[in-house]
Amino acid sequence: MTQKIYNFSAGPGAIPEEVLQEAHKELLDYGSRGLSILEISHRSKEFEEIYSRVRQMVRELLTVPDHFEILLLQGGASLQFYMAPLNLGITAKTVDVLHTGHWSGKAIVEIGKLGSYRIAASSEGDRFKRIPKVERKDFNPNAPYVYMTSNNTIYGTQWHRFPDTGGVPIIADMTSDVFSRLLDFSQFGAVFASAQKNLGIAGVTLVIVRKDLTERCPRNAASMLQYRTHINRNTVYNTAPTFSIYMMDLVLKWYRKEGGIPVLQVRNREKARRLYEAIDCHSLYTGVAETSDRSLMNATFSINGGDAIKEKQFVEQAHKRGFIGVKGHSEAGGIRISLYNAVTLEAVDAVVEFMSDFACS
Ligand SMILES: Cc1ncc(COP(=O)(O)O)c(C=O)c1O
Repeated sequence: MTQKIYNFSAGPGAIPEEVLQEAHKELLDYGSRGLSILEISHRSKEFEEIYSRVRQMVRELLTVPDHFEILLLQGGASLQFYMAPLNLGITAKTVDVLHTGHWSGKAIVEIGKLGSYRIAASSEGDRFKRIPKVERKDFNPNAPYVYMTSNNTIYGTQWHRFPDTGGVPIIADMTSDVFSRLLDFSQFGAVFASAQKNLGIAGVTLVIVRKDLTERCPRNAASMLQYRTHINRNTVYNTAPTFSIYMMDLVLKWYRKEGGIPVLQVRNREKARRLYEAIDCHSLYTGVAETSDRSLMNATFSINGGDAIKEKQFVEQAHKRGFIGVKGHSEAGGIRISLYNAVTLEAVDAVVEFMSDFACS
């Protein structure tokens, strides 16, 4: 029998077993039509059904208000680093940015190509091990928006509460924690996330955007880069990543069946509690992120104070026991165990047992 493998990778992340089984079946025969899901046209009735169901499920599961549009785009979150300021910035105004690591750093570079920005708060001085403390007075009330990354996949920090910006809309990169919690959309101008962590597989990016803000985009910008191009179509503008959207459909159906985001949230808290408890109870391990800012999605820790040999042994032995994707990002080093929605409690218990064995060996 093939060894059971647990995927703790930061992305592409784990996918629910049931979803994989369904996709496996429909790869050869989609809905008893004698046709593979891979072959269906993006203009077909079958795909239109999938596409509209996905957008409807996003709206229902996240309770997205009607004045927000739900878009399924390509180019990953990385393209949104440029599209968001192009569409939602106002050239003459300065964007406020909360800088918490690698991904906000990349977004800052793109914002800078289109206009100006101000770092409203940063945790760079603490090597991004924490989330900056901010209050309403730290924000410029005239900024077109406040940009932030809700969960820092690399350093393992997370905004557990979105800041009070005094009404300035937040644009959030939620690539690594979308669908792990409910949102109060009155705070947001847009939320975006590429799919390969909590929404299936790479190739599609979810963008939830307040429609009125999209009118800020210059009309001479490339059509594909304007949100309004995609909003103005009832269906997809160009050939869509049909399989990635289909996978999102299966994942969202699974979320619905499991009881929706509140249920996932409780489960995620419990998974994180068990894992952080294991980190804290063995002196060999040291959590990277400040305790109050620890991410529920990506837990980071060092071994023996950052002992590279021990960390390498941990990764190798973990691999032998069937745990993949636990090596920290090259920028942060150490170990990272990701706990996305599809990671089960059973998987967490198994890795916790391994951590204890490793610490006691
Ligand atoms: C928070 C965050 N933003 C952006 C990205 C980049 O996403 P993509 O590779 O889909 O462009 C990642 C990838 O891991 C991420 O974790």
